[in-house]
Amino acid sequence: MVNKIGVIGAGNIGGVLVQELVRRRLAKTVAVTDPAPFVNPNDPPEKQATTQKQSVAQGKALDILEATPIIGSDVAIEAGRDYDVLAGCDLVINTAGVPRKARPDGTMPSREELLSINLKVTSAVADGIKKYCPNAMVISIANPLDAIVYTLHRKLNPPKNKLVGMAGVLDSARYRYFVADAIGVSVENVEALVLGGHGDDMVPVRSCCRVAGMPVEQFLSSAELDAIEMRTRKAGGEVVGLLGTGSAFVSPAISALEMAEAILFDKKRVTAACVLLEGEYGVDGMFVGVPVVLGKNGVEKVVETQLTDAERKALDVSVAGVKKTCADVDKMLAETAAA
Ligand code: APR
Repeated sequence: MVNKIGVIGAGNIGGVLVQELVRRRLAKTVAVTDPAPFVNPNDPPEKQATTQKQSVAQGKALDILEATPIIGSDVAIEAGRDYDVLAGCDLVINTAGVPRKARPDGTMPSREELLSINLKVTSAVADGIKKYCPNAMVISIANPLDAIVYTLHRKLNPPKNKLVGMAGVLDSARYRYFVADAIGVSVENVEALVLGGHGDDMVPVRSCCRVAGMPVEQFLSSAELDAIEMRTRKAGGEVVGLLGTGSAFVSPAISALEMAEAILFDKKRVTAACVLLEGEYGVDGMFVGVPVVLGKNGVEKVVETQLTDAERKALDVSVAGVKKTCADVDKMLAETAAA
């Protein structure tokens, strides 16, 4: 058990994270910070004063703490509007930012369209981490995933093993679920790997998908797998379309916890994660989803695997998309610096 784990953002994902961190007793203390509810400067002063006294983070923390006698957990929670609660964290999980939401006509923005707003949020998050827990390991979930992790890297410049984005565990879990459901076998029997950026160009790697160790092509036709892989790429949007009010939050939180547990228990778990590549897979200086080994030192190794020509081409397309969004990050950060 580590001393303290921080959760940045107490929204849908942050709430599940805090609840699970406490239930699984993964740290002595869980910290959670969120500036919401936001004070509206156009409100009358008394309304502004009331809002200022409220705190989504403290409200969720108290709700969870009041369940601890029942679940039998003595994990403490520190919660507040400010980042100071993060002081002393060994690990932080970043969920701060706006999620995708279905428009009234049922269409939805891409994750990349969240960039300009979530870049500002991430700049504040980075300042908070730098001030209160500069040595913490960081797992980031906010979207657009790869660009937000790149932004954290630009702002914090941490050792490359200490900053990782959560996308591959979730995308692979979605692929696994769809395959298991289509065949009618246990989800535990299906292994899968999804590489590349966390966008609609992500790459479900068919050649790495196994059912109890056997190639997935033994169980499903090429057309069935094409459909599953397409559904996997758009799976986040499918949930956004159904919810209407936001995006998936249970599965992203559970996926980040799998990564956190791999680090906390030094599992040396091989899993897809968004990490800084320095030549691996022919990519240099960008954060992209690839198989890595996660252990007590964070990202301990990037695993390079053989891809088919089609998979390699698909990965190149996905990387090109990430490159474009990271170029947007560079431009926006330069504009902010010049302002
Ligand atoms: N610092 C900390 N928290 C912040 C900040 C900030 N500067 N700005 C906003 N937040 C908080 C919001 O107040 C909100 O409570 O982040 C929280 C986000 O919660 P939700 O809106 O419920 O979104 P959630 O579903 O949790 O998704 C968070 O993860 O998967 C991605 O696309 C998703 O970018 C989104 C992020």
